[in-house]
Amino acid sequence: MARLRPITEEQRAIQREFFQLDEKTMDRVRRLKPRLMDYAKTALDGVFDHLEGNPEVAHYFEISENVTYLRAGMLAHCDTLFSCRFDDAYYDATDHMGERHSKLEYHSHVYTAAYTNMFTRIVELAMADKGKFTTEDIVALTRVTLYDMELTVGSFFSHRMEKRDALDSDAVKIRHLLTGS
Ligand code: HEM
Repeated sequence: MARLRPITEEQRAIQREFFQLDEKTMDRVRRLKPRLMDYAKTALDGVFDHLEGNPEVAHYFEISENVTYLRAGMLAHCDTLFSCRFDDAYYDATDHMGERHSKLEYHSHVYTAAYTNMFTRIVELAMADKGKFTTEDIVALTRVTLYDMELTVGSFFSHRMEKRDALDSDAVKIRHLLTGS
């Protein structure tokens, strides 16, 4: 279900400017993408090992199909993110991800924690590799990733609020039907 109040392209441009996501920054991440995708594949192994031991979500990740499904979903999201296209498809993907997560019983910190563990592992791998990333590379990667986290968690809460508002207005309608007041 698309957002009731989707963000306009003008608002998107203002947001990107706020995160200082300029063309130079996006070009830098696009150039680094092949390495970032390799690091993401390795990082996800550690992320799921950690999730399998986490009391809040272990029951979900004990089912290997769930790990396979989510690993593919997270890698596909990295592929979209590190392309830095910021087009409708990208904003729809972040909204979709937030909406899917908002329907589960987990609190938002579960997603931001997993995301942070993936991101910091990517940074560790990039700094340990030959031709390690420069400060400018890490800054560009951080800007793009934190903007993406803002969009996906923002969508998580917007969908939860829209759902709650819909339930509240249904309750009012039912009360009115039952009591006429
Ligand atoms: C512990 C943390 C997480 C849990 C428990 C979790 C769980 C899930 C579940 C159950 C779904 C499917 C929901 C459905 O079928 O409606 C889902 C979808 C998705 N998740 Fe997560 N997720 C987590 C973290 C993340 C992170 C960190 C990312 C990205 C970096 C991510 C990216 C996605 C995407 C892109 C989808 C949609 C996949 C699709 O369209 O098929 N998830 N997640």
